[in-house]
Order: sequence, then structure tokens, then C-alpha cells
Amino acid sequence: MRILLLTHAFNSLAQRLFVALREHCHEVSVEFDINDGVTEDAVAMFRPDIVVAPFLKRAIPESVWRKTVCLVVHPGIVGDRGPSALDWAIIDGEREWGVTVLQADAEMDAGDVWESLTFRMRIASKSSLYRNEVAEAAERAVLTAVQRFSDGSFQPDPQDLTGPDVRGRLRPAMKQSDRTIDWQADETDQVIRNINSGDGRPGVRDTLLGLPVWVYDAHADDRLTGQPGAVIGRREGAVCVATVDGAVWIGQARRRDDTQSTFKLPAALVLGDRLDDVPELPVHDGATWRDVWYEERGGVGALHFPFYNGAMSARQCDRLRAAFGEARRRDTRVIVLFGGPDFWSNGMHLGVIEAADSPADESWLTINAIDDLVHDVITTDDHLTIAAMQGNAGAGGVFMALAADRVLARNGLVLNPHYKGMGNLYGSEYWTYLLPRRAGTENAEAVTQARLPMGVAEAGCLGLIDERLNGTAAEFREQVMERAEALAGDPALPQLLGDKAQRRAADEAEKPLVSYRKDELERMRMNFYGFDPSYHVARSNFIRDVPKSRTPLTIAAHRRRAGRASGA
Ligand code: COA
Repeated sequence: MRILLLTHAFNSLAQRLFVALREHCHEVSVEFDINDGVTEDAVAMFRPDIVVAPFLKRAIPESVWRKTVCLVVHPGIVGDRGPSALDWAIIDGEREWGVTVLQADAEMDAGDVWESLTFRMRIASKSSLYRNEVAEAAERAVLTAVQRFSDGSFQPDPQDLTGPDVRGRLRPAMKQSDRTIDWQADETDQVIRNINSGDGRPGVRDTLLGLPVWVYDAHADDRLTGQPGAVIGRREGAVCVATVDGAVWIGQARRRDDTQSTFKLPAALVLGDRLDDVPELPVHDGATWRDVWYEERGGVGALHFPFYNGAMSARQCDRLRAAFGEARRRDTRVIVLFGGPDFWSNGMHLGVIEAADSPADESWLTINAIDDLVHDVITTDDHLTIAAMQGNAGAGGVFMALAADRVLARNGLVLNPHYKGMGNLYGSEYWTYLLPRRAGTENAEAVTQARLPMGVAEAGCLGLIDERLNGTAAEFREQVMERAEALAGDPALPQLLGDKAQRRAADEAEKPLVSYRKDELERMRMNFYGFDPSYHVARSNFIRDVPKSRTPLTIAAHRRRAGRASGA
């Protein structure tokens, strides 16, 4: 079928549906919901059998839904309506929540139901639930609804909100006052819930050390205590605030004084010298915040680096590299690089770069720090390395995974193995060595030019991934550890290490790693310091979430086609 994805932005859910529908052999094109006229044009050009709307902030125009069936994905249970579905589910402490696929009609979220699925809630941020449970249920529900539509005989259910079992209801947009933290009264769980409900957006209004901020990325600490509301410690980018019954780490913040120019950053960076008298606190066992840690089991060392949004600053890369070096010195045989549960990595930290006095210098510092790390992984000859992708990855983050000997990925995640969308960035991370080595030169060229999101099935076919595994992030980690332990105990391991060393030596003789890096960095230097400001403009827009004024042609197939037909 021909399916138009109508969406406010090509966000993680829209990307996941794009991938899944194409895998099911549908012809898919994307249009951003900019205004009614643009939507009408897109429908006229593409003539879709059906419109699927994964992420909308406004109603679909009547001129469209009257003529074409439009399926709207609502991140709520049947009967739930309103723009803050997940925010309320978190604040209300719902144990079970859901996704409903309904047909657009005159009233928003009130149309007939094509499919609805439920899932168990987790204590997690809104964006983590959205990227995992919601995305998973939405994919299944949309595929079922599309199949039902294609069969032709299915009659969607009108929403009957009078039944005794219907829990969903119309909820207003959540206001800041609904999630305000009262540091003198709220217990740790409540503080976490409030921050989770607004994370990634819009955050929770608060004041830290006298500075008005929005806060995000909350983690309970089971040991620290202090005067409620006081900032009692810091650790790398995060700060610790005491509650009435413990303490909460806050990883990210954004200044509130000037909404136009501020953006989300590590909280300690936002607070700057206000933290001068706040002590750096060492990591302790138990619940606390840390963004790099190591564990060991059965001859396997596992490194975790759940960097917020998968973004890696130069300092984070240096710390991760040091941790990797430590892991190599242990008496183990396999090292697993786990990334974080929501993201493996999204490459350079564009926010920290944007905030620097010289974004060009900070970009240079960051890309070199990532390259150093990737170099160490590629040249590891004493261990087998496994990149275990629990969550999505983009740009340099994808190529960093390819540095490992084996790449394992969780089914359902989305990869964006390309840089060009960020203002024609050339990219480094030894991608010119790593990508063709796995995918071949022709495919490498096609992948980087196409600039499309890719599912793990396609990544597997291209050779970017060696094995796909099912399950939640926790189940995936366990399966990976079992495989890694088996590998560590495999008598053939020395042989595998020998083969690896031979291959590396042959590759090095053909073209040394240092040459790949030099060639890539020459191009990157032009991106950072050259006359063309595209990368700096794209980064600034990306980090400030400036809406796109038109749909990129890479995903708007109907517009590409129309352009070709008109000879443009
Ligand atoms: N640096 C800083 N923040 C980043 C980031 C990066 N490299 N990559 C993603 N983010 C942030 C986004 O700003 C967004 O922030 P929010 O918490 O305010 O919502 C959040 O992560 C999610 O990103 P989003 O773009 O909404 O996710 P997505 O799943 O829709 O798209 C990507 C995934 C990878 C296509 C997209 O995030 C991207 O292009 N990232 C930049 C990759 C890049 O160019 N890296 C630098 C070169 S190595």
C-alpha cells in the first residue's frame, strides 16, 4: 500500500514506523505537518491509500480525513484524550498504560479505534517510555491496523466511554504547576516522578542555587541526605539535591532566563561557578548517578555508558576511553560495550559544543576524543570486543559500534548511519575504514548518501550487525552477557584473536589507520573552520529544536518524484 506518514517531526517513533512499514513492503513517504495547505498538497501528490500520523500537535484538516482514512497514533489507553497523555500517566502513577490507533475525525483523539495495546509502566522518563514501550506497542498496533485496512472487512470500534472498564478520559494539557517540586514536602519518589513526567520536554521549572532553570534527568540516591532543596554535591555533569527523605541527582538543566537562546545541557555546566563550594562526591554502591561504569562476570568485562541522549562530550569520551583502558588491563577475555538502555550513542555532544566559547574548537576537541576512543577499540588485540546496542544510535555513534569485533543489536532499534543531515558534516570515527569493511564500498556510499533511518533487519543484511536479539533492554543485556561468557570460555578464542590480529595487520599494510583519520579530519576541519557555515547553522537549529520549514526530500518521496517530473 501507499502510506503517507504525516508527522510534526521525523522523531524516533516516526522513524520506527517508517522502517517497519517499509520492511512490510509498503511504499512510504513522509510529510511534516506544517499547515493545512502543505498537507493537502502532499496528499494530492502522493495519493496515499492511507495516512498514518505518529506524532501530531494539531488536528488533521477535514479536507484530508473526509477523503482518505487517517490513522492517528495516540500514546494513551482507549478513551484517553489530550496532548499530555504520558505526562499524566507518569504523574498519576499508572501501572499499565497503552497506545491507541484511532481514525481521525472532527474531534481530536475521539475517532473510531482500529487497534489498542497496553503495556506495563516502568519508573522511567517520558522519553524513555516513548522510545521503548510506546514505540514497541505503536509499531505492532499500526501494523495490525494497516493490515485490517488492507483486508477491507474490518469495522473499527466507536469509542464507547460509558462502559465500566473504560479508564481513559479527556485530560487537559499538563501545566508546570501540575509537576512543580515542593522540596520541603515532596519525597524522593515524587520528585523523580515529577521530573520524569517532563523529560525530555518541557522539563520541570525549578531554581537551583538561585538560578531559574528547567530540570531533567533525575536519579534517586539511596545514601546521601541534606537540607531539603539544597545542592549537596556534584559529580561530573550532574548535581545532587537533597529531598525530605534522601537525595536526587539531576543530570540536565536549561536556563530559564532567555528561552530563545538557551538549551539543555549537563546541569553542572549550567550552574557553572555557582558550584564552586559544592563538593565533588565519589561514586558509592547502590542507587546513585554515574554515566560510566564497569562490571565483570565470567571472564567478561562490561562497560556501561548511558550518556543522556547518547551525546558524548570530549570529557566523556576521555573518561570512557580511560575506563576501556582499565577494562583491558583486567584478566578477562571479552569486553562488552553496552552504551545505555535508551541510546547506544549519538556521537559528538552538540549541546556542549554549542555552549562553548569556540564551537569550532570544541567540535575539533570532541571529534579527536571520539577518534582516540574508537582507535583503541579497533586496535584492541588482547580481548574480543562486542558492541551491544540496547538503544538507538546515530551518526558517529553508529560507526563507533562498528569498531568492535562483533555487533549485537536489540530488535526494534533504529540506526541513522550518516552525518550529512547535520549541515553536510563529513564525519570521522574512522567510518571510511569501518563502514566499507563491513558493508562493501558500494553499500557504504549508498547508506551515507541516502540519509535514511535503518532498522536492524536491514543493518543485518548490510553486514553492520552480526546478531539481532529480542527482549527489553534488561533481557537483551542478559542474553549478550551469556553469549560473551560463552565466547570468553571458548577454547577457540586465542585463534579468533590471532585471526583478528592478522586481519588488522593486513588492513594496516593496505592503508594505515592514521591515514583514514587524517583524511577524515581534513574534511572535518573544513566543516568546523571553513567558509561554509552549514554545520554551525544546522547544529544551532538542531540543539534549539527549530522546526523545519519543509520536509527533507530524502524522506518526502512524493516531492522528489514531483520534482523529477517537473524537471526541477
Ligand atoms: N548531541 C546532543 N544532543 C543530541 C544529540 C547529539 N549528538 N543527538 C540527539 N540529541 C538530543 C536531541 O537534541 C533531543 O533532545 P531532547 O531531549 O531535547 O528531545 C534528543 O537527543 C533526542 O533526539 P531526537 O533528534 O529527537 O531523536 P530522534 O530519535 O528523533 O533522532 C537522530 C535521532 C540520531 C537522527 C538525531 O538525534 C540526530 O540527528 N542527532 C545528531 C547526530 C549527530 O549529528 N551527531 C554529531 C556527529 S557525530
